[in-house]
Amino acid sequence: MRAVVIDQFGEPEVLQMRDLPAPSPAHGEVLVHVHSAGVNPVDYKTRRGLLAERFPHTWPCIIGWDVAGVIEAVGSGVTDLRPGMAVYSYARTAVIGRGCYAEQVALPAAIVAPAPTSLNLTAAGGLALAGLTAWQALGDEGLAAQPGETILIQCGAGGVGAYAVQIAVARGLRVIATAGPHNQEFVRSLGASECIDYTAGPFEETVARLLPDGLRLAFDTVGPDAAQRTADMLAPGGRFVSIAKTLDPAAYPHLAAVKYVFCEPNRGQLAELAALADSGRLRVPLSEVLPLAEAARAHALLETRHTRGKVVLAVR
Ligand SMILES: NC(=O)c1ccc[n+]([C@@H]2O[C@H](COP(=O)([O-])OP(=O)(O)OC[C@H]3O[C@@H](n4cnc5c(N)ncnc54)[C@H](OP(=O)(O)O)[C@@H]3O)[C@@H](O)[C@H]2O)c1
Repeated sequence: MRAVVIDQFGEPEVLQMRDLPAPSPAHGEVLVHVHSAGVNPVDYKTRRGLLAERFPHTWPCIIGWDVAGVIEAVGSGVTDLRPGMAVYSYARTAVIGRGCYAEQVALPAAIVAPAPTSLNLTAAGGLALAGLTAWQALGDEGLAAQPGETILIQCGAGGVGAYAVQIAVARGLRVIATAGPHNQEFVRSLGASECIDYTAGPFEETVARLLPDGLRLAFDTVGPDAAQRTADMLAPGGRFVSIAKTLDPAAYPHLAAVKYVFCEPNRGQLAELAALADSGRLRVPLSEVLPLAEAARAHALLETRHTRGKVVLAVR
């Protein structure tokens, strides 16, 4: 099978197309014929070696934790998934190296779910990782956001933020998001009531004007500076989650929650996400579909930190 591998950590150029033996599904695994692989910041962080202390790697190392495709074969013990089924997965496994930038990937059936029927498999490849992250950040693992609440989402235009806006709106929240000037209309089209241009001045001033009684709920997807400034402006009793920066809860004794969420694979939640997509309330905002051979270009694009929505690699 064709796969994009790295033999060492480094710049995008270390991503190389290679022919490798196809994996075969072990007990409890399914073999997925990959249609598309989502590209996420964790991919370039892996490529740079930033996950080396947290996860063992195998070499040559195929990266990629986001996939949609069709089941080609199932290993022993798999009873609920069958060859021919369209599936998708947040394909994080214990070891990095047999990932989704490939024509085939073997994955534990426990983290693979039927793909949304309303999406083609190119789009579905950009849903699992970022969508599940937004789902968990807003859900019981994170903010436990409730209908009727108002939430500030730092970065409504990125992969995770674009799903967070839509999921929050579907759950009955009022959404205020941030984005650059070129993404204002896009973020409103996802359902945000207000979008703040973070380049036009301190976002705190606009938030304070929009919420004279104070900000109580915030989701940060941007990182250090935005995370800190957002937590600093929350009213007493407020709840804060970041997926990009760990803040010390002890520094915010007046807040009800200060959490970092690291997305966990979860088949049941993938099914709920698929149902939301099939209900028409969650779309995949694809900005780039590139061939697998252009994985390096996809990384370079993502590393600008200004791609809109999702970038996927079309494999089939
Ligand atoms: N903990 C976890 O489980 C987990 C899971 C997924 C992702 N993450 C992390 O979360 C972060 C976001 O991931 P992602 O996939 O959403 O990234 P992404 O798609 O690459 O984010 C790009 C977006 O960021 C926006 N942006 C950049 N600077 C901004 C700022 N100062 N304020 C507001 N928006 C800004 C850009 O919008 P403009 O062009 O309009 O500026 C762009 O649309 C990454 O660090 C990623 O590693 C963590």
